[in-house]
Amino acid sequence: MPNISLRDRYLAFSPIRKLTPYAEAAKKRGVKIFHLNIGQPDIASPQIFLDKVKEFNQKTVAYEKSDGSEELKSSLLKYYRGLGISLTTEDLLVTTGGSEALMWLFFILFEPGQECLTFEPTYTNYVTFAELAGVNLRPITTFLETNFTLPSIEQINRAITKKTRAIIVTNPNNPTGAVYSRNLLEELVELCLKRDIFIIADETYREFIYGGTKAVPLLTFKKAEQIVVLADSLSKRYSLCGARLGCMVSKNQPVMTTANKIAQARLASPTIEQYAASFLDQVPESYFREVNQEYLKRRDFLISELKKIPDVKVSRPDGAFYLIAQLPVVDAEDFCRFMLEEFADRKETVMLAPAEGFYLTPGMGVNQVRIAYVLKRPDLKRAVELIALGLLKYKNEFIRTNPGT
Ligand SMILES: Cc1ncc(COP(=O)(O)O)c(C=O)c1O
Repeated sequence: MPNISLRDRYLAFSPIRKLTPYAEAAKKRGVKIFHLNIGQPDIASPQIFLDKVKEFNQKTVAYEKSDGSEELKSSLLKYYRGLGISLTTEDLLVTTGGSEALMWLFFILFEPGQECLTFEPTYTNYVTFAELAGVNLRPITTFLETNFTLPSIEQINRAITKKTRAIIVTNPNNPTGAVYSRNLLEELVELCLKRDIFIIADETYREFIYGGTKAVPLLTFKKAEQIVVLADSLSKRYSLCGARLGCMVSKNQPVMTTANKIAQARLASPTIEQYAASFLDQVPESYFREVNQEYLKRRDFLISELKKIPDVKVSRPDGAFYLIAQLPVVDAEDFCRFMLEEFADRKETVMLAPAEGFYLTPGMGVNQVRIAYVLKRPDLKRAVELIALGLLKYKNEFIRTNPGT
């Protein structure tokens, strides 16, 4: 059998999905699993999208244009105008999810061996994309104790080396839920202009904001137009994860020209979904308001329930729909596995994402998990109850199998 690429050695399974085999086995045993491990919202997709998918009546599902259908592009331009970003069609390219835009950016912006900075804990899939492109993803650590606020601009400046080509700014942040203020972003922009590095803006969760801090799009900073590349997604904004649509947006012409070359090589993004998504500009403001209110209630509820469990510490997210919790265990991944493999209460259990995989620094986050509050409150309540029961049982098992510790 021929060998496969050595890249395999450097790639890891996503911490969000790596425990899936245990979950599948539990399901086969008839155990119901509350999925807090993955950001798959239970919120209904907009009715207009669902109606338009059904309405699609072409005889052939043909390839769309490589840079996206004209209708979807103009609908997206309208959306960005609403955010105060005025774009031409050349500044925007439709991609198959924000993931595709992100993956391409690691190939477009970097030479192999160059560095990209990210705040850790970070969105774990950046790690895989960087590995594939031979880019060295370097962390700037943020801490649960300080609610994952960013370090000072001086510290960020010190992390930039001769090899640094870009910094990823995930705002609102996954996995921490942190939202960065206008002042802070302004300082970051100044720094990146001064040090001549790109900003990869990942604003997938722009609409999900619960505190006073607004998610200011980086493309609204006029002076940063040439250094900001936005990787955007329709997945969360409209609860359309399976539509696999996103876009890359930049005023930087060389970036967009290269992106178009890659886009042409992969031919096109899905035709029917693009057709239906082009009507999303008709989704009323009230949709976002209602969704946000629901998530706000879930966040507050989840935090107050988790805090009732002894020795559990939680972050307080201002955006997105994730939080990091520190558990009274040595190894959170082992606890997550235990919950799926060995624990069930009335044939129910919980799946969590071990947070270690969201960190690049070895040893960080080993006793933390990421929780996605994407379930209704009664389900969240039961899920937290299961975590509490699981922690008790786990502790007792640990004492039984490690007497004297
Ligand atoms: C921070 C962040 N960026 C990008 C993505 C990619 O989204 P998609 O490929 O579904 O558009 C996600 C998905 O969860 C995310 O959390």
